[in-house]
Amino acid sequence: MSLPEIDLVVYPDECDAFGHLNQASFLSLFERARWEMLHRGPGMDVFTRSGAWPALRKTVIDYRAAAFPGDVLRFHQALTHHGRTSFTMRQTARRVRDDTLIASAEFVFVCIDREGRPVAVPPEFGTYMQARRQSLGNVQRLMVHGVNLAVEVRGEGPALLFVHGYPLDRTMWHNQMEALEGYQRIAPDLRGMGQSDAPDLGYSINIYAADLAALLEVLNIEQVVLCALSMGGYIAFEFLRHWRSRVRGLILMDTRAEADTPETRRARDAAAATAREGGAEAIADVMLPKLLAQGTLVDNPGTATRVRQMIANTPVAGIVGALAAMRDRPGSESLLPTLGDLPTLVIVGEADSLTPPDQARAMAQAIPGATLAVIAGAAHLPPLEQPEEVTRRMQEFIDAIN
Ligand code: MLT
Repeated sequence: MSLPEIDLVVYPDECDAFGHLNQASFLSLFERARWEMLHRGPGMDVFTRSGAWPALRKTVIDYRAAAFPGDVLRFHQALTHHGRTSFTMRQTARRVRDDTLIASAEFVFVCIDREGRPVAVPPEFGTYMQARRQSLGNVQRLMVHGVNLAVEVRGEGPALLFVHGYPLDRTMWHNQMEALEGYQRIAPDLRGMGQSDAPDLGYSINIYAADLAALLEVLNIEQVVLCALSMGGYIAFEFLRHWRSRVRGLILMDTRAEADTPETRRARDAAAATAREGGAEAIADVMLPKLLAQGTLVDNPGTATRVRQMIANTPVAGIVGALAAMRDRPGSESLLPTLGDLPTLVIVGEADSLTPPDQARAMAQAIPGATLAVIAGAAHLPPLEQPEEVTRRMQEFIDAIN
């Protein structure tokens, strides 16, 4: 069960002199969709009943296409953060006729009483929204460090923990989650990405790693083989600095040990500005050709579409948070020679320009005993671009250490 989708028609008096749905009316359509959702759920008076008013504190709207009188817009809503007194909703509006994304928006609310003091989000509202967030199939929602994370857990056996890259989500591992039977496969969405909460602030490589450690606690898992791609690799290094004893094998994919250069740091800030101004879609436009090999883009449009959607669905707060976290991460070069007792496999796409094979080779050489696999026909996302080859390499590696 998910939150109801709400259809609303655009009236002529909501449009500007050029016939487009105007911005002020757009805001009120988003608002009407929220009230209608409450009407179908806990009731429109759910807030007044408990003496709380949801005051809108912040709105970020990404307008993607024009809407015209008579268009029917379908509003999809999701709760992306639920705190004690505040909550964040993400809403998208698509034209029903052709499924065009017209706009997506994030609304941050704080519940206040009549004197304007923050008060708790009414439990009835929280319960309704949370109940509709549970229904994610194989996916559990686990609360760690005050944030709800979506975590897919499959199978039984020695545990494999998958950590995705930026700005992606756990579904980038879907081939390996499907194929690696005989292992307990665990793939969380990092905070700010996929179906996990996306708080406005508080992102760092350390908190991502701490979230993973807390997840293992909640799931009662002692040790894992850690399999991490790109930003996931940065998080894996941090995890190893703090929770080394919980890792019994390491698979590093398309990642690097070095910190950002001053130039890359500036590029992170520029990308954050792009995300704030142009939304996640603007990031997708820039990232897609860098993530996938030319061959994947041409021969495998389904994968390209899936990756684009993954990026486009990432909340702006999560993108901006991840960029800051990567920008401020420490270098991990000095860690590599200390990993000699840890079975390690380094995988890289042959055509990866973001973390090129030479860099992966140097990293593998710096880790005593590590092996390197260069995957032909892949760039930055081998698990999606060459799933069978990557799964085969992983299977060989994990079978050998179990
Ligand atoms: C990733 O795939 O996680 C990113 O490309 C990493 C980065 O930007 O450094």
